[in-house]
Amino acid sequence: MLDRTRLAVLALFGLLSMAGGPPAGAADPAEAKRSFARPVEVPFPPQNPFSAAKAAFGKALFFDPIFSASGTISCASCHHPGLAWGDGLPRAIGEARTPLALRSPTTLNLAWGELYGWDGKFPDLESVVFAPLANKANMNRDIAELIHDLNAIPGYRAMSEAAFPGGGAIDRGKIEEALATYERTIVSGQAPFDQWIDGDESAIGDAAKRGFALFVGKGECAACHGGWNLTDNAFHDIGTGGDKDFGRGRLFPGSTALQYAFKTPSLRDVAHRAPYMHDGSLSDLGAVIDLYDRGGVERPSRDSHIRRRDFSAAEKADLIAFLQTLSAEDPPTTVPRLPR
Ligand code: HEC
Ligand code: HEC
Repeated sequence: MLDRTRLAVLALFGLLSMAGGPPAGAADPAEAKRSFARPVEVPFPPQNPFSAAKAAFGKALFFDPIFSASGTISCASCHHPGLAWGDGLPRAIGEARTPLALRSPTTLNLAWGELYGWDGKFPDLESVVFAPLANKANMNRDIAELIHDLNAIPGYRAMSEAAFPGGGAIDRGKIEEALATYERTIVSGQAPFDQWIDGDESAIGDAAKRGFALFVGKGECAACHGGWNLTDNAFHDIGTGGDKDFGRGRLFPGSTALQYAFKTPSLRDVAHRAPYMHDGSLSDLGAVIDLYDRGGVERPSRDSHIRRRDFSAAEKADLIAFLQTLSAEDPPTTVPRLPR
């Protein structure tokens, strides 16, 4: 879709898989496996190409609570590296200290996204940046005041000048570009699943291998959770949500298929990101598998790949074992010293 610039940032972050595809003669359904192979580089859009200085500026902004009215909430409060870049809450809690309507999604692997937000209302990462700021219940920060305050901090002026040489004062566009650039570098690491895809049969156990077969077979999970990031970046009604929780249907009231439709989340590091779904309504992976087993709420918008499955207890356990192999053991994210 996008004509993306090519940059081996994965290599820079030590995440690049050097191995090739599965070895010839592998006993597994090799075709299905190959479609899950990791990409070798992070895509950056030509209108906002990567630079290390821009990512460093964006990283400081991401961790800085200066973004909230009370000075206590940063982007990382809700997209926390220790919680697989979510917040571990059913629904996000911002300045209003009461739960918002939605759960904080992970910011992992967003460079590969297409539309953003559970309902896809944001066309790109840049356009998400000021939404939580302006939202009273979220960060509730006056944008003009924030820009003024950032410009008053010499360290931020220097970071901005390094990121945008000769660009002058910090403004909205620079903040959006820097934050989006940093977010695109948030990439999930090598998981046991990746090693298995690369041909190491001992990387995951037998239960997980059976779970994978269910994931691409009987469960039809891969119809939506396909590719290395385990998402089609599309919107489906899988039978979650309450009567008035229309998801993407709110933006497209005339479309039957988009009623109650939410974005398919990546399943990378999913075991570390409970509770689940756009509304945090399912407390653990067992509850998620039970939902798919039942087929969720039956209604005209429900996706054709969602229906009653009658999984056995062993099949449910195998699916969960597979989902657990998608977790990477990454070196901890460092938090930058924030300019003041
Ligand atoms: C109070 C918690 C909270 C804070 C603070 C917060 N977010 Fe979020 N974030 C959310 C929620 C909830 C959503 C889902 C919004 C939606 O779908 O409309 C979200 C969605 C996103 C998305 C879209 C992800 C996707 O999968 O589509 C991005 C990107 C993002 N936030 C970045 C940021 C940045 C950058 C900041 C700081 C400027 C920030 N967030 C601050 C809770 C938060
Ligand atoms: C029709 C497309 C589709 C199919 C098929 C599908 N999913 Fe999903 N999956 C989604 C969507 C959309 C969501 C988010 C729904 C929401 O937020 O209400 C989701 C959410 C999830 C979540 C929660 C992730 C999170 O961060 O909240 C898990 C785990 C999951 N799916 C696993 C599976 C498994 C296992 C299967 C097969 C048994 C499967 N999915 C089949 C589209 C699908």
